[in-house]
Amino acid sequence: MNQVYGKLMGCYESVKEKLPFRPKVALVLGSGLGDYGDHFSVEGAIDYHDIEGFPVSTVAGHKGRFLFAHIEGVPVVMMQGRVHYYEGYSMTDVVLPIRLMRLMGSEILFLTNAAGGVNYKFRAGDFMMITDQIASFVPSPLIGPNIEELGVRFCDMSQVYQKELQDIIRKTARELEIPIQEGVYVQLAGPAYETPAEVRMVRALGGDAVGMSTACEAIAASHMQMKVCGISCISNLACGMTDTPLSHEEVNEMAERTAPLFRKLVTGIISHMG
Ligand code: HPA
Repeated sequence: MNQVYGKLMGCYESVKEKLPFRPKVALVLGSGLGDYGDHFSVEGAIDYHDIEGFPVSTVAGHKGRFLFAHIEGVPVVMMQGRVHYYEGYSMTDVVLPIRLMRLMGSEILFLTNAAGGVNYKFRAGDFMMITDQIASFVPSPLIGPNIEELGVRFCDMSQVYQKELQDIIRKTARELEIPIQEGVYVQLAGPAYETPAEVRMVRALGGDAVGMSTACEAIAASHMQMKVCGISCISNLACGMTDTPLSHEEVNEMAERTAPLFRKLVTGIISHMG
C-alpha cells in the first residue's frame, strides 16, 4: 500500500472505534478561535496523541485534539490545533488531519486562520472571506504517487472555495451585521514573517492576505471532493504597511480580541450548513 495512504488508514482505524458520530462539517480552528469548542457541549474528543502516527503540533498554545459537537443542530468535527509546514512536517502529514476528517464523513471543510492583510483597504481586526488562493510557494500535498482511493491525479481547482458556501457566508455576515472583506489568500512557508518586498510581491500577484497554512489544506480537501470555505481574521497589516515590527504576540492579541465576533460569525454560518 502507498505509504501516505497506509498511514492515513492507520489513523482512521485508530479513531474509528472512538468516533462518537458522523460529522457533516469539518471546522479548522485557527488562532483566536482555539477555544471555540469550549462554548458548546462537546459530545466527544480525541487527543491527537492518542491517534497512532498522527502528526502533533509543536507550537506553544496550540491544543491538539478533535472535538465533536452539534452546532445549531449540525454535526461538526473541530480541529483544535493544526500542524504547519514550517514545523518540519511533510506536506502529506500537514494535510493528514483534513483527509482523516473527510474519511470520518465530513462533506464540508470550513477553514479559519489568522492572516496578515496585504490589501490596503483592510484593517487589523477585519474578517476576510477567502474567495481563492495561491499555494504556489509551498509544495503541493498531492506530490507523489496519486492516491486513487482519495482522488484523481490532476484535480480541478476552478472553484476551490465553493460559490454556494460563499453566498452563505455573505448572507450570514449581513444578517449578523458583521462587516466582511473578500479576497485571495496566499500561503507562504514561514515561519519568518514576510519582508516588505515579499509583501509587495504578494500584492502584485493579486493576493489580499498572507499566511502560513490553509491553502494546502484546501488542496487536499478539493482532491477528496470536499466543499471548502474559509475565513481569515486579519490580525495585522502585513510587514512594511505600518511602522511597527510584527510580533507573534501582537498577532495573537488581535486574533483573541476578535474572537467573540468571529465565534458568532462562524456559528451563524454553520447554522446554514445543515
Ligand atoms: N504574515 C504571515 N502569517 C501571518 C501574518 C502575517 O503578517 N499574520 C498572521 N499570520
